[in-house]
Amino acid sequence: MFTMQGAIFDLDGVIVDTAKYHFLAWKRLAAGFGFDFTEADNERLKGVSRMRSLDILLEAGRRSISETEKEVAAAKKNAWYLEYLETLKQTDMLPGALEYLDYLKNWGVRVALGSASKNAAFILGRLGIHGLFDAVIDGDAVSAAKPDPEVFLKAAAALSLSPSVCVVFEDSFAGVQAAKAGGMKVVGVGSPELLPGADMCVSCLKEMLFKARDMNHTLDSHG
Ligand code: BG6
Ligand code: MG
Repeated sequence: MFTMQGAIFDLDGVIVDTAKYHFLAWKRLAAGFGFDFTEADNERLKGVSRMRSLDILLEAGRRSISETEKEVAAAKKNAWYLEYLETLKQTDMLPGALEYLDYLKNWGVRVALGSASKNAAFILGRLGIHGLFDAVIDGDAVSAAKPDPEVFLKAAAALSLSPSVCVVFEDSFAGVQAAKAGGMKVVGVGSPELLPGADMCVSCLKEMLFKARDMNHTLDSHG
């Protein structure tokens, strides 16, 4: 029977609702270029790296700029994003995230972060939860973006665990694909329609507190 020995968490959209701040900053950037950027457009940026997100945004606005201008635009967006995060605090964590991390610690499950964000350390610091992670693999530690499994494989290795005993918690389709490509079980956080391929889905980590006992069984039967 499958037993989860390692839990690897995506950050944005799983632990904390930072998507709204990413959106505000991208929208502000698009406005500067003279086009609108909608929440529907923003869906496509979930789990995607900063520079790839910029390319998608420019595509949506039918704009083409030089590599140097891209660097300037991405830095501007990030500065605004960090400005919005200044007021971020532990109570901004998504429902059940803190409690579930605590629960796993108490049960001796090793816990890692596997995020595309280069702001992960800053965000964990603002939330005051750095100490709950045995390993942190973020956007600075990887060269290939999700759906490449690099971030999750590095997280499993940092926990000294085989991918086959790890469960990834992800809210993006690219992240679900990355976890499966890495040979891990994956719990989708969000709607099953948007996360095909996930072994099971929950609406938020609070649900995991109730499902915890059944989870190993559910994942086991999923193969
Ligand atoms: C992912 C987010 O976690 O991190 C993306 O889902 C974001 O929206 C990406 O673009 C990179 O984040 P950052 O903080 O390095 O710009
Ligand atoms: Mg995410």
